[in-house]
Amino acid sequence: MSSTKAKMIGIIGGGQLGQMMAISAIYMGHKVVTLDPTADCPASRVSDMIVAAYDDVEALRELAERCDVLTYEFENVDADGLDAVVKDHQLPQGTDLLRISQNRIFEKNFLAKKAGVQVAPYKVVTSSLDIENLDFSKTHVLKTATGGYDGHGQVVITSAADLEKANQLANSCECVLEEFVDFDLEISVIVSGNGQDITVFPVQENIHRNNILSKTIVPARISDELAKKAQTMAVQIAKKLDLSGTLCVEMFATADDIIVNEIAPRPHNSGHYSIEACDFSQFDTHILGILGLPLPDIHLHQPAVMLNVLGQHMEKAQAYMQENPSAHLHLYGKLEAKHNRKMGHITLFSDEPDTIAEMGEGMDF
Ligand SMILES: Nc1ncnc2c1ncn2[C@@H]1O[C@H](COP(=O)(O)OP(=O)(O)O)[C@@H](O)[C@H]1O
Ligand SMILES: [Mg+2]
Repeated sequence: MSSTKAKMIGIIGGGQLGQMMAISAIYMGHKVVTLDPTADCPASRVSDMIVAAYDDVEALRELAERCDVLTYEFENVDADGLDAVVKDHQLPQGTDLLRISQNRIFEKNFLAKKAGVQVAPYKVVTSSLDIENLDFSKTHVLKTATGGYDGHGQVVITSAADLEKANQLANSCECVLEEFVDFDLEISVIVSGNGQDITVFPVQENIHRNNILSKTIVPARISDELAKKAQTMAVQIAKKLDLSGTLCVEMFATADDIIVNEIAPRPHNSGHYSIEACDFSQFDTHILGILGLPLPDIHLHQPAVMLNVLGQHMEKAQAYMQENPSAHLHLYGKLEAKHNRKMGHITLFSDEPDTIAEMGEGMDF
């Protein structure tokens, strides 16, 4: 599948995403160095390490000097620091994509105005004055422009009672106010690019618990027409970005439409099923893409479900594996099983798409 020329790939961030990127790179014959502040991070098991803070410019420079190509496992990388150290073409994903995905204002403007895809009606909020005369016949959600994740930095506003919290948030930093979408399902689409061509994965259905992804079901239980629309939108976004590597587009599926929520410029938790369920994983296509190599069409072998294993699920996951040896358990090698920490995931297959959503329910994750 790959080029026979071995490259040195530098990854910023050595969590599970960095680890799984490194595994794909290594079986294609490449070598990997990871920059992470934690010496025994998940990627340390499969790559050389530079142990330093993500924004340590000298460490970034060392990484750039040692590597042919650089990439990152998360979007909150110091874009200016990277610009200062990378040589031409060394960071195929570029830093513009980082800046877009680090700030919801840039992100929404890019999605709505440049990529031309549908997003929830939104406006930029710079102080509580901007949310003074809200129409409470609609639900809104106020989100910080930067730094939010897993639902942190958000206030849902349904009535005047929510305004105190919302005003506090609005006065503490720049925000975006969105209309709340009455969605049937949350879905996501993974796309990968090599700077020229784009390849697209099947539509994934995502179920969150406590704002953390709990389960992904593939294919998503939406009409073929909506699935096609979601994939087309993801490809349209990727093309506007001249995408290199893997990107995830999070969306809402309503009864008859698709609305884009946000993008993540990297492999995504909702794409982990692709390791076993597709002929190429989101990590394989990420590596091929950043190396500018030809990209394969993606085929889903079988309907699949991915279950996240958080710190509090470790014993249940072990018991489940005793009973279900055909399930695929991935553990990332994190030393401490803290509550809500992503420790691993399980991928399951079904010949019966209608029952796939119930699979794994017995685990009560
Ligand atoms: N406009 C919206 N309408 C309905 N639900 C929303 C909206 N925005 C966010 N949510 C819900 O909140 C979750 C987290 O929001 P998101 O924008 O994805 O932020 P992040 O993942 O960065 O924390 C979403 O997965 C969705 O369940
Ligand atoms: Mg999200």
